[in-house]
Amino acid sequence: IPLSFDASVDAIKRVLPINLQSPRVGIICGSGLSGIVNVFRDVVLIPYENIPGFSTSTVPGHKSTLAFGLLGSGEGVPVVAMLGRFHPYEGHSLSSVVYPVRIMAKLGIKDIIITNAAGSLNPSIPVGTIVVIQDHLALPNLTGMNPLLGPQTSKDLPRFLPLSDAYSPALRRLVFLAAHQLQLDDSALAEGTYAWVSGPTYETPAEGRFLRRVGADVVGMSTVPEVLAAREEGLNVVVLSLVTNFVVIPETYRSIKEEVQAELAGKKVELPQAQVVSHAEVLAIGQEKAGILMKLVESVVDSL
Ligand code: 6GU
Repeated sequence: IPLSFDASVDAIKRVLPINLQSPRVGIICGSGLSGIVNVFRDVVLIPYENIPGFSTSTVPGHKSTLAFGLLGSGEGVPVVAMLGRFHPYEGHSLSSVVYPVRIMAKLGIKDIIITNAAGSLNPSIPVGTIVVIQDHLALPNLTGMNPLLGPQTSKDLPRFLPLSDAYSPALRRLVFLAAHQLQLDDSALAEGTYAWVSGPTYETPAEGRFLRRVGADVVGMSTVPEVLAAREEGLNVVVLSLVTNFVVIPETYRSIKEEVQAELAGKKVELPQAQVVSHAEVLAIGQEKAGILMKLVESVVDSL
């Protein structure tokens, strides 16, 4: 922990008007989903670089700003949103990655809505679907890269955090009710398990098949560290993953050995062209579907 939490909280509160000083809900905006700030009222933006203890994000398509404002109908609910998050693959320590979540908790949020872009591993979850996460599979947590490893940030927090109840059923219910109110098509939302991998590489076909077979529906490089810190801080968590691409999982490989034998026997052969995931594709789908995700988040905040 680089600095005292108090220094961060003080720096933030100093620039906020009274009505925004105690946000009720936190929102973490994934790739291309930061546009939600456009429907905030009374917005105050604080660049991460102005907050002691915060790192800055380096991923194209990710901003580095904390946004405060009122969201939803009527008077509005005071919220704080991270426009851009930190990923371990950028070289940020796991404690830096979760630092803003702890600060949002100190500011008084009770619920946190975490969004991300993810790849689908499940043939019945197509690109464009919003997946309401019901559970996670975190290989790093099982192999010595748990974000909560190390000294505790407070004696008041549980040392051995249970995770069987990490994804709030009450908040997930509100998401599906909000989707109904917004008259979203039944296929717009799905439920599933999120696999957290460290990145920055996308999965090989063998890794994709592995994750699918052990029960993951979507895969991504974020979110789980924030979920752990949020749960440790006692927050209610809901995670919405926007499926931006399908993970390339061929069930069989074309045998190059056989192709060469055919070639030597005089047949004309073409080498297989593997499909690859592109970050541009991830950002494009993010932009296309971001509007729906933003409406959903706003509607959930409204119903809290
Ligand atoms: Cl295919 N994999 C991972 N690890 N993260 C992603 C993704 C895939 N698509 C979006 N984010």
